[in-house]
Amino acid sequence: MSKRGIIIQGSSRVNGNTNKIVTFIKEKTGFDSINLVSKNISAFDYDKKNENDDYAPLMEDLVNNYDLIVFATPIYWYAMSGIMKNFFDRLVDILNDEKKLGRRLKGKSMTMISCGSGPEIKEGFSMPFVESANYLGMHYIGDVHTWLEDELISEEVQKELISFSELLISKK
Ligand SMILES: Cc1cc2nc3c(=O)[nH]c(=O)nc-3n(C[C@H](O)[C@H](O)[C@H](O)COP(=O)(O)O)c2cc1C
Repeated sequence: MSKRGIIIQGSSRVNGNTNKIVTFIKEKTGFDSINLVSKNISAFDYDKKNENDDYAPLMEDLVNNYDLIVFATPIYWYAMSGIMKNFFDRLVDILNDEKKLGRRLKGKSMTMISCGSGPEIKEGFSMPFVESANYLGMHYIGDVHTWLEDELISEEVQKELISFSELLISKK
């Protein structure tokens, strides 16, 4: 069984603020990363008209190769980005699929990085991640909130990210 970690970036900007945080964490952990905005993953559809888009192959890769999933999302309107929410909604497609992909998430670990406009994050932001992990039988091992100042990661946030990276490496 593989023991690797992957960061899933859910920003609407390929090289925006969330990406700067993801790049920092990648450097510290050596984890792989993927960018949801560069994939063709449409919104959940009860009729499964989207079953041939990039979602199932992505999930197969995640399930087969990684034990730790780090969700990195900007804060858009007090919540995860729409791109990331589509990713979560689509989990419904793989919970009862032939390959039992969704069930194979059980036992893996989940963490979350938020990237907002400043240090404030509203209570409850992490709840959908925590509860989704519970539902899927994944271990939720924590989160960190970040922001940029003049397009740079402040020393305060860098320190948080370094200890978060250490946590990620220890749990991998
Ligand atoms: C549609 C939209 C909604 C936003 N809503 C919030 C918000 O509710 N709280 C917050 O702290 N920042 C909010 N912001 C600011 C972004 O979270 C912040 O600029 C973030 O660093 C952007 O990351 P990105 O470059 O990866 O998109 C919002 C930005 C956008 C584009």
